[in-house]
Amino acid sequence: MMLSMNRVVQVATTLLTFSAGANAAAANRRATTCNGHSELCDRSYGNVTFIGAHDSYAVGVNNLAVNQDYDVTQQLTDGVRMLQMQAHDNSGTIQLCHTSCGLFNGGTLEDYLKKVKTWMDANTNDVVSLLIVNIDNLPATQFDSIFKAAGLDSLSYSPSSASLTASGWPTLGEMIDKGTRLVTFIDNTADFSTVPYIIDEFTNIWETAYDVTTSFDCAVNRSKADTSTSMYLINHFLDKVLLGAPVPDVANANTTNAVSGSNSLGEQVDLCVTQMGKSPNFILVDFYEFGGGSVFQVAATANGVEYSPTSAIATPKTSDSGSGSSSGSGSGSSSGGGSNSSTNGAVSPVLNKQQWMTALTVVFGFAFGAVILL
Ligand SMILES: *[C@@H]1O[C@H](CO)[C@@H](O)[C@H](O)[C@H]1NC(C)=O
Ligand SMILES: *[C@@H]1O[C@H](CO)[C@@H](O)[C@H](O)[C@H]1NC(C)=O
Ligand SMILES: *[C@@H]1O[C@H](CO)[C@@H](O)[C@H](O)[C@H]1NC(C)=O
Ligand SMILES: *[C@@H]1O[C@H](CO)[C@@H](O)[C@H](O)[C@H]1NC(C)=O
Repeated sequence: MMLSMNRVVQVATTLLTFSAGANAAAANRRATTCNGHSELCDRSYGNVTFIGAHDSYAVGVNNLAVNQDYDVTQQLTDGVRMLQMQAHDNSGTIQLCHTSCGLFNGGTLEDYLKKVKTWMDANTNDVVSLLIVNIDNLPATQFDSIFKAAGLDSLSYSPSSASLTASGWPTLGEMIDKGTRLVTFIDNTADFSTVPYIIDEFTNIWETAYDVTTSFDCAVNRSKADTSTSMYLINHFLDKVLLGAPVPDVANANTTNAVSGSNSLGEQVDLCVTQMGKSPNFILVDFYEFGGGSVFQVAATANGVEYSPTSAIATPKTSDSGSGSSSGSGSGSSSGGGSNSSTNGAVSPVLNKQQWMTALTVVFGFAFGAVILL
């Protein structure tokens, strides 16, 4: 009798222990690698530096209206973790266009988001951010419908309030464990009470100047936040002025994206760390693969993790000659005289016919557009 009683107690204890253990295991299930590094799992999202693709949808080769050589899937595969885009209303459909849909149309937001979803489904230990420039002030509910159609609403992180300080964010590990690892910011019309996962950008993130044609600094350019506690984003893409319009300065992309040197990404990050006491959260670049991975190396250093790529990233497609003279004066002379670049001994021709057409379209877009290239 005693024995069997003991046995019942023993079995019950074993069961209790087992189920408690199982529950604890479920509750404590922890990602061991987050965005490629175990050290990042315990770090607040607001304390991580992410590389972002400026105009991530504006993809093409030797075209003045594009900012990237590779599409969103390759960007993500190579390590880009913030995708910036311009959303336009094109006859009732949200499309990703540059300045105007007549100048450059990168397709529908829905198709783009489906690519993001496919990549995220295949890479379950990564937190990805989106930054939407809502050119036509479309309501958050319209974006919500498209996120739902793409299956991204359920992957999205909703903050506890409309604005968080940098330290108010959960860790990457928590976001990954909960499966809410897509963070979406929008520059206007966020509506926390209706669509909490479409997050207002400027009450959460301040930005440095964009369309820089000279040297990068770390001054606050746009913000609605307390800049001493919020996250911040640096726009590290160098433009040159062509016929009055800023276009990517491809000739300098390798040095712009570099780890060190004059006007390099490394230099701007160092400057920002000195001025702000912490690294930038987001770094937007053009042609991210110029520099051969240097932008990811800068981010790894900022994050205090080893830069250890397992495979080579994509190689540049757009060439210096694709954007004309590289004199660097930024004066945007339109005389058509041209000058020869000494880069790799290559001769940079004056703009060819197609480039002039694109340049003129840029200017045309300016003349009629209320918006600017950014
Ligand atoms: C922000 O940057 C833009 C583009 O570089 C510039 O035109 C504007 O004057 C800047 N605004 C402030 C407040 O610094
Ligand atoms: C950038 O660097 C790559 C690789 O080193 C090189 O092939 C390319 O010609 C460079 N481009 C420019 C514009 O300097
Ligand atoms: C994260 O915190 C460390 C330690 O305070 C700091 O050095 C680093 O700059 C921070 N990074 C970001 C993006 O806030
Ligand atoms: C460019 O190179 C061509 C051929 O070598 C030469 O005739 C021309 O004077 C050069 N132009 C400039 C602006 O250096």
